[in-house]
Amino acid sequence: MSTARFPEGFVWGVSTSAYQIEGATGEDGRGPSIWDVFPGGRNGDPACDHYRRYADDVRLMKDLGMAAYRFSVSWPRVMPDGKGRLNEPGLDFYDRLVDELLAAGIAPYATLYHWDLPQALEDEGGWTSRDTAHRFADYTRAVHDRLGDRVGTWFTLNEPWVAAFLGYGSGVHAPGRRSAAEAFVGAHHMLLAHGLALEALRSAGAQRAGIVLNLSPVLTPGQLGDLSSQPSEEDAEAVKRIDALHNRQFLDPVLRGSYPADLLPVVERIAGLGHIRDGDLDLIGRPIDLLGVNYYTPTAVQAQPGAAGDASFPGSEGVLFCSVPTAVTAMGWPIVPSGLTLLLSRLSREYPGTELMITENGADFVDVLTPEGIHDIERTSFIEEHLRALRVSLDEGARVSGYLVWSLLDCVEWADGYRRKFGLVHVDLETQRRRLKDSALWYRDVIARNGLPDGRPRRPTLETVAARAGVSRATVSRVVNGEASVSAEARDAVLRAVRELGYVPNAAARSLVTRRTDAVALVLSEPRQGGDALIAAIVRYVTSMLEGAGKQITLMLADTAESRRRVLQHVEARQADGVVLLPPDDHGPLAEQLARTGVPVVLLGRPAVASLVPHVDVDNAGGAGAATAHLLERGRRRIAMICGPTDLVAVQDRLAGHRDVLHEAGLRPLLALAGPDRESGAESARRLLADHPELDAVLATSDDLAIGALRAAREAGRRVPDDLAVVGFGDIDAASCTTPALTTVRVPARDQALALARLLLSRLDGRHAGPVVLPARLVVRDST
Ligand code: FCB
Repeated sequence: MSTARFPEGFVWGVSTSAYQIEGATGEDGRGPSIWDVFPGGRNGDPACDHYRRYADDVRLMKDLGMAAYRFSVSWPRVMPDGKGRLNEPGLDFYDRLVDELLAAGIAPYATLYHWDLPQALEDEGGWTSRDTAHRFADYTRAVHDRLGDRVGTWFTLNEPWVAAFLGYGSGVHAPGRRSAAEAFVGAHHMLLAHGLALEALRSAGAQRAGIVLNLSPVLTPGQLGDLSSQPSEEDAEAVKRIDALHNRQFLDPVLRGSYPADLLPVVERIAGLGHIRDGDLDLIGRPIDLLGVNYYTPTAVQAQPGAAGDASFPGSEGVLFCSVPTAVTAMGWPIVPSGLTLLLSRLSREYPGTELMITENGADFVDVLTPEGIHDIERTSFIEEHLRALRVSLDEGARVSGYLVWSLLDCVEWADGYRRKFGLVHVDLETQRRRLKDSALWYRDVIARNGLPDGRPRRPTLETVAARAGVSRATVSRVVNGEASVSAEARDAVLRAVRELGYVPNAAARSLVTRRTDAVALVLSEPRQGGDALIAAIVRYVTSMLEGAGKQITLMLADTAESRRRVLQHVEARQADGVVLLPPDDHGPLAEQLARTGVPVVLLGRPAVASLVPHVDVDNAGGAGAATAHLLERGRRRIAMICGPTDLVAVQDRLAGHRDVLHEAGLRPLLALAGPDRESGAESARRLLADHPELDAVLATSDDLAIGALRAAREAGRRVPDDLAVVGFGDIDAASCTTPALTTVRVPARDQALALARLLLSRLDGRHAGPVVLPARLVVRDST
């Protein structure tokens, strides 16, 4: 079969969910759901007004040639209190919808739970209460009683991981609880609800039933670049743990009737195992007819000893969630179509025999409305690339029976509200007018030919030009629009690519220019006493350089959990187009979290763990080595190092550089630990001089410590430099004012700031940039 064709009978369609499109939350007796009450929610009206416009929407799908439509039934519309009384008008709505679909020749696929729990049940404990699972089975029975004669395919739950871990763990989804234990308990009760509902469906005679899981291949950043690369033992453990939490926690119970052995100790430690009762797993593991797979993006992780972990993944302590250096959607989700192939081949290998269906795949991009249409090239390419990846899996033998795009309409994206655009069809929120985007028309053609456009030469897109020129789409757009703010170098590269590819700019290219790329957040992660003079200088320089480049700077503190959360929210809300994070130490997780939003981030200083986030550093080891060599040249043999806080990566590097040069000279290091300030430098020097009267030199890891050492030498009656040479590090203003003036290693604040600003500007232009390491130069004065 040609790579472009799909098997006979392959099911093409779209997915939606009740809360995201229906609106009419207070109509015809519907009860409140957790999303109507959740502070980050309350977006359910008017949504797409689908409750009233369902017939138009079905007609749209018919015109596009859809074979299947996956929608969800709203539990609070059918049972306003979550149990007991049925709301007939609510059931009538689904009755009408199903009839309309059947009349249009579209197969209805019903999801029974897509996150809109009746608030009345949440008030009684929600998913942390086992009773909710039984109430779900009652509700399932009621829905099946009404629709079972016409609905052929049933899904019990949509993405229980999201509902449990974002709803009860990190609290970013309704009901907004933040308890690691409750998240695990909720997840189990959801699985139990699946098992009970499945039993109810079977005994009522349902033909085809399954569950929908959000699955994500978990890899190290190294594996993402090269699948054959071997992760370290620690990284492999991190991957396995996150895979258990994200994927196997649901796959194994449903498809094997057991929890993964490596997950249980994590659950036990956090939530105990009391909520898992005898017989539960037998029910949960009863055979399903098909597994719905929602795929959006992979997950990149690596080991990071001491990392606090992510609240959405309780049990992820010691794991760092990494950014993926690739194009992202507007949601910030990395675009990795090959992840779908990887996922499907893994499912086929480890859970053989299960029929699979892609029940969600799609992307949020900024759409541009023009009188001639909505040319959403990115969305079309996203779907096309994922369909190609799916085609590869089919060739490899994966049993995938269909593909449903998320989503038919631009709709309510949960806590993100209306600003996310996943639809094939644009919805005007004022008028509710529907307009087909280019992606919808393209998808219609795919459905009509049961395959991808065969070998058709692809029109060069903005993306292709950006890739050829090595710049971002926004830069291409700026060049195409004749904006002056682009460097000559980038402009040349773009124009060359435009010529070579024969690219004709379209409206999408023109529009990108309206996207802001001028707001930069300057984030101070850990203001430390003593080290602040240098940071203050760098902040001043970076600010003036970026302002000179037309950026607006917002200075933000990220020194507490709360302020870190605020910074993350600020960036997630795209109130910043770029982030400079400084200083380096302790900011591992924040840097990675920020980078995962897809907004360019640059760091000052080498991070403690390997990271894909680009940084600017100075050659601390080289500088300390040069200072040590200088002391040796001056005939010093008994050299001590006064070492500032050793959790600082810069201090560790300085120590390493000093040690290496001493070792080469056959000498042994003598270390004295100190705090950050002058007094503690003096204190360490006093102790050193008392314990080692033969000492003839001191190298300190900062100028402040060295100034303290000068004072201690004076007090002890030692002449500097005759009896004792003293060297600092940093070359702060005070270093040249001491008596005698201090020999030190200059850390070029201005150059660092310049390099940081440059690095950020090139990232904002979409260029990938590696780390920058600046030389640290020895400045010889009278103290040596
Ligand atoms: C999935 C949800 C769906 C939608 C997409 C973008 O996790 O199932 O409702 O929010 O993500």
